[in-house]
Amino acid sequence: MTAVDDAVIVVDFGAQYSRLIARRVREAHVFSEIVPATITASEMAERRPKGIILSGGPKSVYETPAPSLDPAVYDLGIPILGICYGAQLVAKQLGGTVARTGKGEYGRTNVSLVGASPLFADWPAESQVWMSHGDAMTEAPPGFDVLAKSEGSPVAAFGDDHRRIYGVQFHPEVVHTARGSEFLARFAHEVCGTPAAWTHVSIIESAVAAIRAQVGSDRVLCALSGGVDSAVAAALVHKAIGDQLTCVFVDTGLMRAGEAEQVEETFRRQFHIDLVHVKAADRFFEALADVTDPEVKRKRIGELFIRIFEEVAAELGAGDAGPRFLVQGTLYPDVIESGNAEAANIKSHHNVGGLPEDLAFELVEPLRLLFKDEVRAIGEELGLPAEIVWRHPFPGPGLAVRITGEVTRERVEIVRAADTIVVDEIRKAGLYSELWQSFAVLPATRTVGVMGDGRTYAYPIVIRAVTSDDAMTADWARLPYDLLERIASRIIGEVEGVNRVALDITSKPPGTIEWE
Ligand code: XMP
Repeated sequence: MTAVDDAVIVVDFGAQYSRLIARRVREAHVFSEIVPATITASEMAERRPKGIILSGGPKSVYETPAPSLDPAVYDLGIPILGICYGAQLVAKQLGGTVARTGKGEYGRTNVSLVGASPLFADWPAESQVWMSHGDAMTEAPPGFDVLAKSEGSPVAAFGDDHRRIYGVQFHPEVVHTARGSEFLARFAHEVCGTPAAWTHVSIIESAVAAIRAQVGSDRVLCALSGGVDSAVAAALVHKAIGDQLTCVFVDTGLMRAGEAEQVEETFRRQFHIDLVHVKAADRFFEALADVTDPEVKRKRIGELFIRIFEEVAAELGAGDAGPRFLVQGTLYPDVIESGNAEAANIKSHHNVGGLPEDLAFELVEPLRLLFKDEVRAIGEELGLPAEIVWRHPFPGPGLAVRITGEVTRERVEIVRAADTIVVDEIRKAGLYSELWQSFAVLPATRTVGVMGDGRTYAYPIVIRAVTSDDAMTADWARLPYDLLERIASRIIGEVEGVNRVALDITSKPPGTIEWE
């Protein structure tokens, strides 16, 4: 048995917060996965979860169509906790009443306990929770006790301790619910009986065992990008199979300052990993000459990256003598996203370090069950430097997608120098770790300025800094004015070819984080 076998599964009814529920459960050291609402009872039974959480969702249970749950799931004997829509669904399916009372509750709300249950054992009589609902539950299903109520919810929580099925109208996963995290932990540990086994050490141990079982004595390739995901994936695989692993770092000339040196230092000198460092900037600049269309840029970079990667793989030996596996730093949110056929293709996310379908490799994806914060934590546990582990994410095509218009060596140097200043000042202000990303963008226009006594006609730099949980949505960061001023005057003073600095105040949506 490993921690993955003691899972609490989140059934997703389209909630904004499904991922947050899974993360909170994992913070209680219990493995949690998200599955679509279409899961059948027999599929659920096959997974043998220790508990099930039904998420909230944007619909009303009375809309048609509204997502539902295979009713046979209630008979599996697995503990169930419904949250918001999930709770209303349980109420409706098991014979309670959900009504359009016209008294929705949104935001902070007080609930009072009216019944006793192990699930609420440590709750005070009155507590503040976060609500967001229009319909309200007015009667618990037969055999269930009403456990809590609020002004707009005659049934704010209900449950049957014998069947171990519960519903709560509020959202325990959001920070505004006092004791919310403890509540989910209590459900997982006390009601479902899961041990606190999903720890960083156990994640590493089970990943190492899985990698060994998958690759046996074969050779494995890993493309390093300088970013945290490929770095942690490489360190994990190296821990599992040592020198069966060869890492490839393709220096595209489009990296952040110091990135290539850092990859060398960490992987070759510190971890003693076999590292092939390909200096290919010239080839990339050649492939990008005269290209201005963002998608063409991405494709050119992707294709060349793959070609170089194939060359390296061929040099390492063909057929049985060569590497059979390829490491990819796919994360859990990518796995959930790719399960969503309706997601629009906004940008072709070529993941440098990621890959060509027609390459004859089997994939090793040691991070595919992990959220970014877990990846960072195990990166630290594996001894990777904080500089790599806590670095802001960086797109595969690199600085090329932070330059609109043509990508030339000179323009890359401008954006790289400006980027270094942005990040340096943000670090000095102690704000780096509060931001999801912060960087400089170089637009293709030039503007007029005056410096000294002379007219200038040069590029502007745009400062982009965002906060985000997972890059699906993002908010522009409210950086202090004096910090912005320091960044602007340093960029104009130190980066040749720039005479103006602007700030991007667009959130995502409607903007994307990167400019291209
Ligand atoms: P956007 O710009 O779509 O970016 O809001 C969301 C997140 O993804 C990163 N990004 C990429 N990562 N290959 C990657 O590996 C790419 O082609 C790519 N494009 C964007 C971006 O930095 C942000 O964190």
